[in-house]
Amino acid sequence: MATKTVDKAPITSALTDSDRDTTGKVLQGALLDLVDLHLVAKQAHWNVVGRFFRDVHLQLDELIDSARGFADDVAERSAAIGVSPDGRSATVSSGSGLPAFGAGWKSDREVIEYIVSALSELIKRMRARIDETDKSDLVTQDLLIGISHEMEKSHWMWQAQLAGS
Ligand SMILES: [Fe+2]
Repeated sequence: MATKTVDKAPITSALTDSDRDTTGKVLQGALLDLVDLHLVAKQAHWNVVGRFFRDVHLQLDELIDSARGFADDVAERSAAIGVSPDGRSATVSSGSGLPAFGAGWKSDREVIEYIVSALSELIKRMRARIDETDKSDLVTQDLLIGISHEMEKSHWMWQAQLAGS
C-alpha cells in the first residue's frame, strides 16, 4: 500500500498564525515539563525507601496521575490549535526544565525535597506561560491556570510534609 503523506497543516483554528505559533511553543514547553514530571515521579515511586515509604509511594502515584492527565490535555490543546505536539523521549530529555533526579535508592525525605523543588520550578514556568498566553490565546491560558491551580495545591501538600520534621 502506498504511503500517503499528511498535509503540512491539516488542522486549522481561529487563531492567527502568529498567535498560534506563540501558543504552540508555550504548550510544547508545558508538555515536556509535565511528561518529565510524570517520568521522574515514577522513578521516585519505585526508588523511595524509609519510614514513610508507603505514604510517599502512594502520594507519588497521585501526582503521576495528574501530571499524565495534564500532559494529555496540553498535547490535545496543541493539536486543536493546529500545532503538532512532540512528546518523544529524546525531546523530553533535552527540553524539560525540571531539575535532574539522580539514580538509585532515595530516602523518603530526599524524595519529598526533590518533588517540592520540581513543583516549585514547574509552577514558576507555568506562571510565565500564563503571562505569555495573555494576548495569544485565552482558552489555552485558562487550561494553564487550571493546571497551575492543581500543581500549586500539590506543592503545598508536599511542603507540608517537610514542616516540623
Ligand atoms: Fe506502582
